Amino acid sequence: MDEDNVGAAAELLRGAERVVALTGAGISAESGVPTFRGQDGLWKTYRAQELATPEAFRADPTLVWEWYEWRRGRVAAVEPNPGHRILARWAAVFRSFTLITQNVDGLHARAGSVDVLELHGNIWKLRCTAEGTVVEDRRHPLPKLPPHCSSCGALLRPHIVWFGESLDGPTITRAFAASQASNVMLVIGTSAVVHPAASLPFTAAGSGARVIEINPEPTPLTATAHLSLRGQAGLILPAIDERLGTLRQA
Ligand code: OAD
Repeated sequence: MDEDNVGAAAELLRGAERVVALTGAGISAESGVPTFRGQDGLWKTYRAQELATPEAFRADPTLVWEWYEWRRGRVAAVEPNPGHRILARWAAVFRSFTLITQNVDGLHARAGSVDVLELHGNIWKLRCTAEGTVVEDRRHPLPKLPPHCSSCGALLRPHIVWFGESLDGPTITRAFAASQASNVMLVIGTSAVVHPAASLPFTAAGSGARVIEINPEPTPLTATAHLSLRGQAGLILPAIDERLGTLRQA
């Protein structure tokens, strides 16, 4: 690990009042949740258009649900890792700490984070295609596929933003406002290619925030980031936290 960069990241965070963290699939990789892109990425094996679009769901809701059932099973079987836990702890360390995630796995909440801005929805939530009501259902497997709404009988769909769909307005508005107001923005485990989420760090940098990227690979954000820490979030975040603790006592 690059100890100089870990120290520099801790230095940037020390004294920062408004901190934002944006996470992607990479934060959950060490828990055993597959990422979307890269060598073993989900989109290498599965065609996104056949599974994660409204058209795919209309054409074959059972197939789409089977895929989400498989993913729900993967997520149910794993635990949050030290990266999730450090971010949960940091909510109490900074005067303002906003956690924004593109992940739908709910692992941040399981690690103790509250009020997470889930830009792409949540795999444990189901939405009625007729009424728009959202229910949480953590059963795995679900008793019957595809599931139906208990009040009106219409199909239930995963409460997840699919390709071609818009993000929840209030959630993305809060995410942009927090990014714009931040002193330091951490961007952890995202390939930084899916917008509007990928625009958040550029907005933060444009508003004067220091941007720290944590990722084993370079991304389109790397050239803009003030610091790029190459490696696994589950190792780097605890290392920064340790330095932060040391610095805070100094
Ligand atoms: P990706 O799969 O595109 O990118 C995962 C990133 O995590 C890559 O840049 C990896 O290098 C990095 N990574 C892998 N292991 C890591 C580790 N241990 N620590 C830190 N980083 C690591 O995932 P996202 O950027 O989250 O959208 O993808 C964005 C969106 O694309 C997803 O939310 C999903 C997908 O289509 C929806 O489902 C709407």
